Amino acid sequence: MGPALSRRDLLAGVCAASLASTAQADGALIPFGSAANHFVLPTDAAYRAALARHCDVLVAEGAMKWDIIRAKREDFDFKHGDDLVTFAQQHGMQVRGHTLVWCEANPPWLKSLTTAADAELELRRHVERVVTHYKTSIRSWDVVNEPIAEAPRNSMDLRPGIWPSLLGERYIDIAFKAAHDAAPDQQRVLNEYGIEHATPRDRLKRAGLKRLVYDLKSRGVPITAIGLQAHLDGAEEIDKEGVSAFCRDMTRAGLDVLITELDVNDMRLPADPAQRDAIVTAKTRDFLDAVFASCRPKLVCTWGLTDRYTWIPMWFKRKDGLPNRPLPLDADMKPKSMMAVINKRLTE
Ligand code: XIL
Repeated sequence: MGPALSRRDLLAGVCAASLASTAQADGALIPFGSAANHFVLPTDAAYRAALARHCDVLVAEGAMKWDIIRAKREDFDFKHGDDLVTFAQQHGMQVRGHTLVWCEANPPWLKSLTTAADAELELRRHVERVVTHYKTSIRSWDVVNEPIAEAPRNSMDLRPGIWPSLLGERYIDIAFKAAHDAAPDQQRVLNEYGIEHATPRDRLKRAGLKRLVYDLKSRGVPITAIGLQAHLDGAEEIDKEGVSAFCRDMTRAGLDVLITELDVNDMRLPADPAQRDAIVTAKTRDFLDAVFASCRPKLVCTWGLTDRYTWIPMWFKRKDGLPNRPLPLDADMKPKSMMAVINKRLTE
């Protein structure tokens, strides 16, 4: 008998198909991914080893955002993104792109755009150039990130920023069409957060996102997938019914569902690490149960792999000063129970 096939061997074909939206058999393995931080990738060997060991897919945490690629209006700087792609390819991992348009992480010069015509031209130019640059290495893009208002008043409320202020909702159509024109066969994702919990805010965001998706589909906009960021709040309940119904609606609308940025904010959880980890794991399980009750996501991706590097304390520092523990590996790269819960889901 030959050596047992590793999860990576089994995933070699599935992973490419998952991220290209080609037919994937029910019951096929689901790839696991993580955001990768281009600041620490070159300096931390243990981090690189952990990514290579645990991930099938990497997504650029910051390297492909406008403020990095387009620091200067006239240049496209792909260095950090290219380094990430090279690292991933050396270890047999796929790469997802994040993100082609967002109201955050933009360079200051973007404010010099003052007309709709200018904004449309620049947005098209950016999307076409970036998608084309990565055409052979990236099959799945977060085309539009976080389009819905932080706390919407109604289902029409968009997140404010340069793009909606100059182009209205049309900026979303423009980005998806430009991405499609540059690479028609790719997976094009609308990515959003704040739709997972049983709170009035999340219910409104979910309604807004559903309204937007249905309108995009009715306008013939070439969206192919929805990304649930899943930045879960450890102190809130998951809206299991709501999440499940939402995934069902998206599947019926012909979209793939991806979990794109899973982590659990432990700011308001007890100090004791064991107790905290247990809640983080239970929250992850509740959320995955809700999604899997109505669909089979094409990817489960966490926003960072290890508690050593997480964006959580930038916004959600604990009052007691203890380090946050929102991710599947601890700060010493040891898998926590959150990793086991994810792995179980991905292989059953
Ligand atoms: C965050 C990164 O993790 C930080 O390092 C960066 O400084 C700010 O952005 N939703 C998203 C991601 O879609 O792009 C954000 O990433 C986290 C929230």
